[in-house]
Amino acid sequence: MLLHDESPAAVEARESAFLVKTYARTPFHPRDGRGAKLIDADGRAYWDLLGGIAVNVLGHKHPRIVKALRSAGDELLHVSNLYYHPAQGILGEKLVRASGLCRAFFCNSGTEANEAALKFARLATKKTKLVALEESFHGRTLGSLSLTGHEAYRTPFAPLVPGVSFVAPNDIAALEAAVDDDTAAIFLEPVMGEGGIIPLSDDFLIAARRIADRTGAMLVLDEIQCGLGRTGHLFAFQKSGIVPDLVTLAKPLGGGLPLGAVLTGAALEGVVKPGHHGTTFGGNPVACRLGAVVLEETEKLLPQINALGEWFASELARVKTGIVDIRGAGLMWGIELDRPAAPVARELLTHGFVVGTAREKVLRLLPPYIVPKKALASFVESLDSILAPAKEKAA
Ligand SMILES: Cc1ncc(COP(=O)(O)O)c(C=O)c1O
Repeated sequence: MLLHDESPAAVEARESAFLVKTYARTPFHPRDGRGAKLIDADGRAYWDLLGGIAVNVLGHKHPRIVKALRSAGDELLHVSNLYYHPAQGILGEKLVRASGLCRAFFCNSGTEANEAALKFARLATKKTKLVALEESFHGRTLGSLSLTGHEAYRTPFAPLVPGVSFVAPNDIAALEAAVDDDTAAIFLEPVMGEGGIIPLSDDFLIAARRIADRTGAMLVLDEIQCGLGRTGHLFAFQKSGIVPDLVTLAKPLGGGLPLGAVLTGAALEGVVKPGHHGTTFGGNPVACRLGAVVLEETEKLLPQINALGEWFASELARVKTGIVDIRGAGLMWGIELDRPAAPVARELLTHGFVVGTAREKVLRLLPPYIVPKKALASFVESLDSILAPAKEKAA
């Protein structure tokens, strides 16, 4: 019999022996949580300001998610996509009505959503060239990786999907020059997450729409990290007033279970036919039920997300040293530091805050939408004390 010692040291040793070393994990062992709090294996509580990298938008053990999961125990856990089940249509209708697009396709993850969008764009245009942004992130499978504008991720796996060019974020002239009549799709994240929380300007998104219309390319917006309420709008693109041809979603969509989606607009009507695409697990009934809860609760929380975001930005602006730039909206913030972010994130963890990083110098915050103001206020206080010059700390 295998004896499973679940102490932190034993967990780390077992993983080190038996798992592929894909992750440079932080030695942090969350085992429980409620609301915006996580509890580690030693019973210590932390404010969770990362939310599983934008997944746990309703925090941990939200009563409606727990209730939906309990009743799922009495239902079918999997229904083949060969057959009908009500859950996909119910969530699809909600997403379509909220976005102004026409239809939804469900898969399991962000990278799969972008793969599907890539295939759908090729089908719709019969073209193959693609344009994406420098420092973008669209996923790890070969198609999505080909669109990811970060050399370190792409280089070990070359050659990738051919015909992809990258332009600088918010450079309208460069986008204009890169997109031509052979372009199948322009892929953009309205707020670039892994790239360091870089919001695309409304002007850039409007120009992208105009360029796509002129050339016949599909405008694909990857809202996997910035969508579903994160920026204070249900869809980040809604701020700019444009409507994309395709939107990709994942992260918070399944309420913590794996669920991704592609929303398709009028240009895709009649394009995707049976046999063109599919998945065994995509659109799992339990994940779709949770997705409906996430959407309903998020819609109620939008005013709170906006108000908290505005207040938080003004609080951060009061930190006296160490911050070079503050970027974001709603509950998606990048705090660019004058020093490497990883050691600061580690120190924040010892102060009781779980945060992320992006690129070398950016602290990345993606807290649950139910995060209390007091958590953000004490984060600002701790950050201020960590970044303060040594002699100020001693005083
Ligand atoms: C903008 C964006 N697109 C795509 C992905 C890939 O999603 P997944 O990890 O679910 O494949 C991510 C994940 O971080 C993301 O932030």
